[in-house]
Parts: sequence; C-alpha cells; structure tokens
Amino acid sequence: MGFGLTEQASAPNLIQVKKSWIQAYPEKQEFIDQMASFLLQPEVQKSRMQGAVKTYGLMPKMGYTLNQAKEIAAWLYNHEPVDSNAATPSPDENPLEKGRSIALAAKAALGKQLMSRLKEGGPVAAIDFCQLNALPITDSVSKTKGAEVRRITDKARNPKNACSAEEFTLLQSWKTDLALGKQPEAVLVDGSGHILGYYPIFTEEKCLACHGKPSLELKQILQKRYPTDLALGYDVGQIRGAFRVRMPK
Ligand code: HEC
Repeated sequence: MGFGLTEQASAPNLIQVKKSWIQAYPEKQEFIDQMASFLLQPEVQKSRMQGAVKTYGLMPKMGYTLNQAKEIAAWLYNHEPVDSNAATPSPDENPLEKGRSIALAAKAALGKQLMSRLKEGGPVAAIDFCQLNALPITDSVSKTKGAEVRRITDKARNPKNACSAEEFTLLQSWKTDLALGKQPEAVLVDGSGHILGYYPIFTEEKCLACHGKPSLELKQILQKRYPTDLALGYDVGQIRGAFRVRMPK
C-alpha cells in the first residue's frame, strides 16, 4: 500500500485508503492506533486493504516514528482526500454515501458498546451487545428521515438476521471479490418508494471470541440462546454480512 501523499499508479490512492480504514475503524482513537501500528510495522494481517495488498504488495516499512505515524493517521481521519478527476458528491445528495454514513454510525455505536462490555466482563458478559436494536444511533438515522439500518448475513446467529436469496448472491460476490484480491464495494438497490444500500461487514480480531472458536462456556450459552447459530468458525478479514440501510426516495 503506497502511502505517499502523491498518487501513484502502483498503489491504491488515499481516497480508497481512507474509505477502507474508516469502514474498519469508524472511531477516531481506534483508527489512529490501528493505522499507526500498521505504518510502524506493516503486516498483511493489519492491513484493511487486503485486496490492494494482493494486487500491489504490502507497503514497505517507512521508518516513521510513533508520533509521525499517529500524525499521518490523525490527518487522514480528519480530512477527506479528494479525487481531482471527479467531483465528489456531498453525502446529502448521494444515497450511496448517505447510507454509508448511517452504516458507519451503526458500526461505531455497536463497536463502542461491545468493546466496553468486553473489557468489563469478557465475551460472556458482552453477548447482549452485538445487537443493533436499542443502540444510540437514532441521531444520525433521524437526520435521514425514515431511514432504517439492519444487519443481514448468510450465516445467521439470530435467524431474524438471515439474508434473502438476492442478498445471498451479493454476499457471495463480495467473497469472490476478496478471493480475487478486490475490495468488496457497497451497492445500491432500487426498490419501490425506497432505496437499499448494502455495506460489507468484515470480521476483525475482536469478533473472534464470539464468531471464531468461542470458549466452551460461551459456546454453551450461545447454543442455548441461538440453537441454530451458524455464525461460528470465522477468521479475521472475512465477510460476516452487510449493513442494510433502507432510505426513502
Ligand atoms: C461478545 C460476543 C460477540 C462479539 C465479540 C461479536 N459478536 Fe456479533 N453477534 C453476537 C451475538 C450474540 C449475535 C446475535 C445478536 C442478535 O440476537 O441479534 C451477533 C450477531 C451478529 C451479526 C448479525 C447477524 C447474525 O448472525 O445474527 C453480525 C453481522 C455480527 N454479529 C457481526 C459481528 C462483528 C463484525 C463483530 C466484531 C466487530 C462481532 N459481531 C463481535 C455476539 C458477538
């Protein structure tokens, strides 16, 4: 991953970098910590652009100090790099971007709850907090009147979150993208009276306690609560599902 401030043909540009990393780490502190750690010591595992790594190779170690790495990460968090070749539409008039900001708000709210619960009491205490309902995301959603955000998956823990046949096809195409080294992209689907935006959800290290190989204790609790649980056996960087944002036309 090239990380110069100039655009190079041999690396993804800053817009793509920002998009992938903000999707993985919508929270500022986590974004900065994770990106700084990557810049100091680039490793495939830490990259949020696994597709680009496959295409371009891993960026070299640049010899930044921790402070420099944090400064770069903070700059990227605070700025929206612009593509000089294209007019970037504002989120307000672009449903894809409007939906993305709602999905990111949902992700940030979920992640925040989950992390604090995990720290307090470990995964057993935290299992109630991987639910979207009753989350403080109403603010950003209400800005987009009538918008509704949900999560869907091809391997549901809670059967209520199971995807439709069309959605299954979309999730499979994202998995194919990943396998081919391409970055899965969000998509819009036109409905009658509404637009649906789909935004990929990737697994991260912190998800694996409950979606990878959980402890025996946790496994038993999950089995009791979710007898048809399919959301196990994941590794880092896989497609876990999608945020589905329904927006009125
Ligand atoms: C503490 C345990 C725990 C952790 C950690 C956890 N989850 Fe979950 N996850 C659950 C539980 C329990 C459910 C079922 C929620 C419900 O009933 O709606 C769930 C449901 C989901 C769903 C909805 C689809 C489904 O299968 O029902 C997605 C998507 C999801 N988790 C993604 C993630 C991601 C991504 C991470 C890491 C950032 C993560 N989870 C971390 C416990 C966890």
